[in-house]
Amino acid sequence: MKPIVAGVAGTVLLAGTLFIGAVISDKILGDANGETEEAATQSKIPTSAAAQSVVYAPPSIEEVPEGPMKEAILYGYELVNNTHVAAEEYVGNQLSCTSCHAGAGYDEQASSLVGVMANYPQYIARSGDIVTIEERINGCMVRSMNGKKFDMNSKELEAMVSYFAYISEGVPIGAEREWAGTSNMKDVPIPDVTNGESLYGQSCIACHAADGAGTGANTGPALWGENSFNDGAGIARMSKMAGYIKNNMPVGAVGTLTDQDAADLAAFILSQDRPEWANHNKDWPKGGRPNDIMDKEKRDQVKNGTINWEQVLSTN
Ligand code: HEC
Ligand code: HEC
Repeated sequence: MKPIVAGVAGTVLLAGTLFIGAVISDKILGDANGETEEAATQSKIPTSAAAQSVVYAPPSIEEVPEGPMKEAILYGYELVNNTHVAAEEYVGNQLSCTSCHAGAGYDEQASSLVGVMANYPQYIARSGDIVTIEERINGCMVRSMNGKKFDMNSKELEAMVSYFAYISEGVPIGAEREWAGTSNMKDVPIPDVTNGESLYGQSCIACHAADGAGTGANTGPALWGENSFNDGAGIARMSKMAGYIKNNMPVGAVGTLTDQDAADLAAFILSQDRPEWANHNKDWPKGGRPNDIMDKEKRDQVKNGTINWEQVLSTN
């Protein structure tokens, strides 16, 4: 089934059985990049006043049509799902894109990439610039993957974009993807790192290991240490990490953690050592830099007991 577009006019009857209520969503897309709400609403591709909502129904990877695109789409899928192996020379850690975008971006809950082509190019405050889908992928390569950018004409980047175009089939340009950008906690409670550590021991080590090094990119990825994301990644922010944990973890018992648990766990995980991003001072060049980026200075403050969580969490 293809994604179905519903206009704002009301409710439409499709195929005799399916009613789709049209909604105008005010949800903010792409806000992992740290836009303020206001900036984010203005950042997307402008569309007509009639906002559109779409149903989540991507085509299956088992059913890619025969033809010249098929090889690129399947290679793109492999690159997204097994990145640290398939693109070994570009990746600086032991993660795959699937480590955060579960199911190679197909999972509706975990930072889904279904329909992503519909929302790029996009203005991103962290870059202070218009960002294309290729640049957005490379953003995750140098931050979340702690690696190198793909060349603009590389077969890897072409394949990833081909794959994202395939799983965006039927999602119109500018559409509100209700399922995107949901792993973001707006009001993060003041965390208790010690409690986070004990929760981690109870609920997370089976897959992510006691030392945070993980058990595999797609079974329990590295949460800290040299094989994890660097501190310039979106998920190195308290709001993103707490939101991600609350919505997606622990695998097998999702929905059992409170906001407080997720905040405690996020604070514990993000106060551990990880690779450093060299260009923090170039991010948010036009202002609006959030306070909840857990860089080395903040990790040290947690260790020596001087962290001011109220201040860290004041800008989400
Ligand atoms: C350590 C976690 C992590 C890893 C690994 C990761 N990403 Fe992301 N990525 C994120 C987060 C968090 C966002 C923000 C999305 C959200 O809030 O839903 C994001 C956003 C994106 C977006 C924009 C999505 C949108 O809806 O605007 C794209 C495209 C993307 N990532 C591609 C990739 C690719 C390709 C890879 C592998 C090369 C990758 N990511 C690896 C965490 C990660
Ligand atoms: C049963 C195994 C399992 C358990 C238990 C589990 N995770 Fe995960 N975790 C995964 C898998 C698999 C992924 C990759 C994404 C996916 O498939 O959902 C992941 C991804 C993550 C990520 C994003 C990737 C990264 O490298 O940062 C974070 C953060 C995370 N888990 C935190 C936790 C926390 C905190 C707990 C304990 C509350 C937990 N997980 C418990 C399996 C598990």
